[in-house]
Amino acid sequence: CGIVGIVGTQPVAGRLVDALKRLEYRGYDSAGVATIHDGVMDRRRAEGKLFNLEKRLDAEPLPGTVGIAHTRWATHGVPNETNAHPHFVEGVAVVHNGIIENFSELRDELTEEGSVFETQTDTEVVAHLMAKYLREGLEPRAAMLKMLNRVTGAYALAVMLKADPGTIMAARSGPPLAVGYGRGEMFLGSDAIALSPFTNEITYLVDGDCAVLTRDGVSVLDFAGKPVNRARQISQATAYVVDKGNHRHFMEKEIYEQPEVISHALSHYVDFAENTIGANAAAIDFKAASGLAISACGTAYLAGLVGKYWFERYARLPVEIDVASEFRYREMPLSPSQAALFISQSGETADTLASLRYCHDNGLKIGAVVNVRESTIARESDAVFPIMAGPEIGVASTKAFTCQLAVLASLAIGAGKARGTVSAEEEKALVRHLAEMPRIMSRVLNLIQPQMESLSRELSKCKDVLYLGRGTSFPLAMEGALKLKEISYIHAEGYAAGELKHGPIALIDENMPVIVIAPYDRFFDKTVSNMQEVAARGGRIIFITDEAGAAASKLPTMATIILPVVDEIIAPMIFSLPIQLLAYHTAVFMGTDVDQPRNLAKSVTVE
Ligand code: G6P
Repeated sequence: CGIVGIVGTQPVAGRLVDALKRLEYRGYDSAGVATIHDGVMDRRRAEGKLFNLEKRLDAEPLPGTVGIAHTRWATHGVPNETNAHPHFVEGVAVVHNGIIENFSELRDELTEEGSVFETQTDTEVVAHLMAKYLREGLEPRAAMLKMLNRVTGAYALAVMLKADPGTIMAARSGPPLAVGYGRGEMFLGSDAIALSPFTNEITYLVDGDCAVLTRDGVSVLDFAGKPVNRARQISQATAYVVDKGNHRHFMEKEIYEQPEVISHALSHYVDFAENTIGANAAAIDFKAASGLAISACGTAYLAGLVGKYWFERYARLPVEIDVASEFRYREMPLSPSQAALFISQSGETADTLASLRYCHDNGLKIGAVVNVRESTIARESDAVFPIMAGPEIGVASTKAFTCQLAVLASLAIGAGKARGTVSAEEEKALVRHLAEMPRIMSRVLNLIQPQMESLSRELSKCKDVLYLGRGTSFPLAMEGALKLKEISYIHAEGYAAGELKHGPIALIDENMPVIVIAPYDRFFDKTVSNMQEVAARGGRIIFITDEAGAAASKLPTMATIILPVVDEIIAPMIFSLPIQLLAYHTAVFMGTDVDQPRNLAKSVTVE
């Protein structure tokens, strides 16, 4: 979820919605805004995208120069208007990002005392607790602190009181919050980008901070009420404006941007004049590392899995990798001699951040592979490895994935060079292959587009799809399946080709397409054997291979997608293109909301 607040001198509703637009990556299933005007606290809320809230505000404008607003990704309670924030209880308004873990016991306690709950959310207990303490005669600040000492869990909160219309109170325990300084106005937001049109002077709150904002400034306290000092800094975040250009969707635009953004990513890490990996790839000492721990979520995790193959192969560096929601709790023994890498497009994903903090507490050196350089994950890392993809708006990640791969490939080669497992000659050869990537990507995108479109028509009729691959094509198979289910809602699974016989083979019939990713590499023959097993059972095969693979295989297929022969180091990026386009065109055929598919958020900032 995303939070904003303004204590201003000009009307705030429009500006709050503007800021919410920049926070929509945190969820878009409902939104709301509350203001205080002429002694009245009022709100507008709407189910669904922000657009619906804007329409509501057009019909029923909301005056007032102080307000808070929220865009939601539902955790507790369905995403309807009643459950949309801000929540109101007796002149208290609350917006919340995170989860109040003891909400059910607090709710029972408050219900017993006579409070009547209107929503199914965990957030409403915060409003009721505040109302109760104010009723009992506590001053606003004291009520806030008492409430903060009762709730447990992860939260960023903003609270506004009808009785104190010149103030917004906020607290952080987990999810990020930034305070922004204006002229006679103060701002609050989940990130600095949300506030970038208003101000670039920012204070980041830290866990355990309670902030009280008035038009004159901010005071920050700990939860015991003791004042603390927090630095004021200049944010580099800019209020980017991105449009779709000539494309139907952001996702399509982002797919076609890949040749260009991959060049940016590579030029940050590679010295093309010398054909060597440059110093930016060495911000972490891989030479001294006894191992590498990688953690991430979703598509970023799958990029990390490809990275594991590379770090182990080229740098002989053992890699531990897990999805962040498991990594953070599985009590893995770690040693400060290991390095850790966290991969996150947004840099705000809650589970990834928690894994980072776990490694930090264990004394590991932390590297962050991020797209948003001012993000929480970037700020809490020892070394930041930007992926230079530019803003990615489509919820299904495309260019961020291939840029993450390009960066990880550069880091792995750099690590191999530092550890003496990649010779100067090998380094040059590998870098030359990386350098070819943008050109090959452009060619492939043009080459396969019509075939992907017609094949997608077939896929859109299917209920289930299986993706298979070996080596680095295995994570790619999972990414292909993930893309397809995210945006077309077709059930899809990605499997290691060798695992087919241990279960998924039972699913094979003439209705379920099996998409096999197999460049002509050292695994090719093995994968083709698995394809034989599919063919022998009447399965329909879509074969994604290269010119050499197509010449070598004689199996009948439903379709064969033929890419140019490329070196193994760049194959995962090149082979990403057909799986992205297949998912994209299938979703377009099915008429889904491609850029903002149902139930998802671009970045999930709760556990
Ligand atoms: C969400 C998105 C995924 C993304 C994942 C990790 O689930 O829908 O597309 O891969 O979060 O996001 P991050 O910003 O950490 O890369």
